[in-house]
Amino acid sequence: MNLTIAIPKGRLGSQAIKMFKAAGIGEVIDENSRKLIFNDENLNISFLLLKNSDVITYVESGIADIGISGKDMVMEEDADIYELYKMNIGKCKMAIAGIKDSDIFKDDSIIKVTTKFPRLAKKYFKSKGQIIKLNGSIELAPILGLSDVILDIVETGNTLKENGLEVFEDMYQISAVVISNKVSYKFKRKEIKEIIDLLRWEDNNGKDN
Ligand code: PRP
Repeated sequence: MNLTIAIPKGRLGSQAIKMFKAAGIGEVIDENSRKLIFNDENLNISFLLLKNSDVITYVESGIADIGISGKDMVMEEDADIYELYKMNIGKCKMAIAGIKDSDIFKDDSIIKVTTKFPRLAKKYFKSKGQIIKLNGSIELAPILGLSDVILDIVETGNTLKENGLEVFEDMYQISAVVISNKVSYKFKRKEIKEIIDLLRWEDNNGKDN
């Protein structure tokens, strides 16, 4: 096939790898190892295990032909790529949250917002927000006084709950998407379509796997 597929590490990646394996591809991936690249020589497919936020960079540059990314990152990066298929995995929501029962968000004054998504936050809060970019453990920021609210993804809601935070406002529903490099899509359309058809089948019918 001669394809390179970028997969995010972590929760979303594990679900995606499970799906690839159920579809009969990606047997070579061993999540317990520290290897970051796995080559399936029979199928001629390479898998790159990347940080979620780097999948888009590798796909946009063409080093990876396709990738699995959260829609949150796709919205944040606004990259020159195609979004080919919206998956049924990685479902969560983007929301504004803060310390439970606090009334900071009701106030109309400028508030401090910590987030992994500074561009989305700037668009959302406009002049009402002072945006501070963090790379993880976002929920700590309001507790320690670095921000008034967070703009983050909420999946099970456990991280908010266990840190005494609550959602103040829901923004958008999101899920994982299959993205493609634009040139790859032109020259490897048949191979890419084949992978997406397999994933789509697993996504819709393979729930018992
Ligand atoms: C994400 C997100 C929240 C958490 C939400 O972080 O930023 O912290 O998951 O999930 P939950 O609603 O199921 O608790 P992630 O686990 O990717 O870790 P990070 O803080 O290192 O980015």
